[in-house]
Amino acid sequence: MCGIVGIVGHTPVAPLIVDALKRLEYRGYDSAGVATIEHGELARRRAEGKLVNLERKLHAEPLDGTIGIGHTRWATHGVPNETNAHPHFSNGVAIVHNGIIENFAELRDELIADGYNFASQTDTEVVAHLVSREMARGAKPVEAAHKALKRLEGAFALAIMFKGDEDLIVGARNGPPLAVGHGEGEMYLGSDAIALAPFTNSITYLEDGDWAVVRRNEIAIFDMDGNKVERKRQQSIGTSFLVDKGNHRHFMHKEIHEQPEVISHTLGNYIDFTNGKAKALELPWDFAKIDRLAISACGTAYLAGLIGKYWFERLARLPVDIDIASEFRYREMPLSKNSAALFVSQSGETADTLASLRYCRKEGVPIGVVVNVRESTMAREADVILPTLAGPEIGVASTKAFTCQLSVMAALAVRAGVARGHISPDEEQKLVKQLAEAPRLASQVVKLEEQIEKVSRDLAHHRDVLYLGRDTNFPLALEGALKLKELSYIHAEGYAAGELKHGPIALIDENMPVVVIAPYDRIFEKTVSNMQEVAARGGKIILITDKKGAEKSTVNTIDTIVLPDVPEIIAPILYALPVQMLAYFTAVFMGTDVDQPRNLAKSVTVE
Ligand code: F6R
Repeated sequence: MCGIVGIVGHTPVAPLIVDALKRLEYRGYDSAGVATIEHGELARRRAEGKLVNLERKLHAEPLDGTIGIGHTRWATHGVPNETNAHPHFSNGVAIVHNGIIENFAELRDELIADGYNFASQTDTEVVAHLVSREMARGAKPVEAAHKALKRLEGAFALAIMFKGDEDLIVGARNGPPLAVGHGEGEMYLGSDAIALAPFTNSITYLEDGDWAVVRRNEIAIFDMDGNKVERKRQQSIGTSFLVDKGNHRHFMHKEIHEQPEVISHTLGNYIDFTNGKAKALELPWDFAKIDRLAISACGTAYLAGLIGKYWFERLARLPVDIDIASEFRYREMPLSKNSAALFVSQSGETADTLASLRYCRKEGVPIGVVVNVRESTMAREADVILPTLAGPEIGVASTKAFTCQLSVMAALAVRAGVARGHISPDEEQKLVKQLAEAPRLASQVVKLEEQIEKVSRDLAHHRDVLYLGRDTNFPLALEGALKLKELSYIHAEGYAAGELKHGPIALIDENMPVVVIAPYDRIFEKTVSNMQEVAARGGKIILITDKKGAEKSTVNTIDTIVLPDVPEIIAPILYALPVQMLAYFTAVFMGTDVDQPRNLAKSVTVE
């Protein structure tokens, strides 16, 4: 998490750094700060909360200086206040950091014993002191930085600036991404290419263990042993335009409404609408030969993977192990030679998912990634990229990326089913036709928003909400609960409907709204029985179903949201929309910060 940026420039850099930080705010917004070298001295402005607070401060007290570093923070160590905001200083050394220094407690004790005082509660400050201690012992800045880096354990991307050298920023990467940007007489460093897009499209990504000496006219990259290394320079496709909300009140609203279009773009990459076939993809595995697929991801992306499991197993008879990436990475799962691994991530940077990918790499298993950011670390490390074409997703809560992930997986499952001989050419045609219906039906579902807004008005008065669903609607129940809690801060839980009587039913009374996701399918009646159990205990049911489901349901509901009839294969994609809208409007009624909910960040690069 956290976003970092550095510029060795020739005009005042503070406004440019703020511009770059705006593009990185998705990585955290607990505090922000900028430091430059002004008249030979380190100077900084820092502010608690969003970037706009720092901008106000800089407006009142501008910073000069043609070299500088900046930071937007997602707090790990230390509360989000100004004292803990980066950059951190130590005797002429300024540092910004993304990640976690795992051995910081041990280093802090050592530095305190050596007479260093700590102004903040952060782990980052140890790095500033370590570098300045090396300098006090006689090392020059670059050497001091290198020596300090060798002492660090954990995950970090760092930018270090030194009083007395207005032509030097040292950058380092071990884990979280860091790119250097090449300009004309001006060089840059940032957490991603998008941050640097207004300045340059010529980018080099550092690899883990790399550190870089960035000067106005040259950039040199080294490995941890101090050997100079060559890393590929590439043209970034990042655009210098900041995406805006258009006429929408929030990015999330805009992104919900973009879904018919982006689902269509994404599906178009995997299925041929004209000949009714799933496109043949160049995969590093043969679906006909593998006997297991391991899927791993976090949060909403994990839930997309969970729905994928139902599809792969049902359509392709391919057994799937699905794991939360933070568990997968440590559970030492045995992977057979005939396995393949699939990782799902909007950002392509999520630390736990990336670590799981690297575990599979060590195990020698072919790796595919379903990612939205094509320049991300996961995209670079995978054997095959299966892109979601959702476009930039700015709202912290994932919406369009989720339905695009589902679109990729549904199409891939059809492909797998064909390859494994479980789907005949006729069935393939039928399924592809049904997939192609998803964008049109999605635009109909989005039109239900007025009704969903009304339902949300009532939901916003409750402290707890339950979500229930069976089959692929079970992951959607989990997703509904996740979205509601992260956006509105209302406590919510999702359950497989059949699990209700094994515990959660104890929670049901007349104050408990229960959102039931149940299109009319082969197990609809089973879910109706669960609704009866809720109704018998006074629970208030909000049913999300289709026309037939609304007709056949014998249970009293407080609201019924009726979707058009949709083919089974695309139901999860379409039923995701009311679930998202319910959370969105509830949050709007609660008055929370919908696009940037408290304590969250868009890209989670720490574990
Ligand atoms: C919830 C949400 C998160 C992300 C998760 C994984 O709305 O957006 O749960 O899905 O942090 O992020 P990515 O997909 O970037 O790996």
